[in-house]
Amino acid sequence: MAVAPAAPRPETLAAFEAAKGFMPVREGLALHAAAVEAGALGLPLLEVGTYCGRSTILLADAAREAGTVAVTVDHHRGSEEQQPGWDYHDPSVVDPEVGLMDTLPAFRRTLYRAGLEDHVIAVVGRSPQVAKVWGREVGLVFIDGGHTDEHAVNDYEGWAPHIAAGGLLVIHDVFPDPVDEWTGQAPYRIWLRALASGAFTEVSATDSLRVLRRTGTGI
Ligand SMILES: C[S@@+](CC[C@H](N)C(=O)[O-])C[C@H]1O[C@@H](n2cnc3c(N)ncnc32)[C@H](O)[C@@H]1O
Repeated sequence: MAVAPAAPRPETLAAFEAAKGFMPVREGLALHAAAVEAGALGLPLLEVGTYCGRSTILLADAAREAGTVAVTVDHHRGSEEQQPGWDYHDPSVVDPEVGLMDTLPAFRRTLYRAGLEDHVIAVVGRSPQVAKVWGREVGLVFIDGGHTDEHAVNDYEGWAPHIAAGGLLVIHDVFPDPVDEWTGQAPYRIWLRALASGAFTEVSATDSLRVLRRTGTGI
């Protein structure tokens, strides 16, 4: 009989559902299941693209259960499609003093309300710069950062090399059909690249969330 994946605690699920962000529930549950599985490796679980912490809650819950930590990276100035004038812009996360987006305060409130502050290391910085100084293996990399080819490729090339043998690569917003995703198909292209590399094997697909396992070396 198949074993059902470990679900987040009810209070964690409630905090996730209440948090500002872009992760639908079905995909969130798939991300959580992947994080629980990868947590068994006892290595950090790494996210690119914190925004206000919606998906971070799920990684933190899995990290808490596994006795490891979730690391989440974001410059907190928003992606292209979140800037003023774009569909995904939220004026409530603009810092009125500097006139730029700043999702860090909302993120901190999200984690506090979820009771998960002790299980997360938040890194404020640009993903490629952080990846360059990052020096250890991780059990999972979740790519949910910028949607241009430049950003997606940087995230893949910067972080995928750190995934341990048997660890998981999770990519959000993988849309094989261009009509489904107006912010572009860059995540789809890095997913194709990961599969073509021979280093990763697909584990699951839940809507636009893809989970791959490291089954070979390189990227
Ligand atoms: C789609 S949102 C992440 C959504 C979040 N995972 C959730 O569940 O709601 C993308 C985030 O990536 C961040 N981002 C975009 N490009 C980045 C880069 N080069 N380095 C760091 N963060 C980046 C943006 O600031 C934004 O907060």
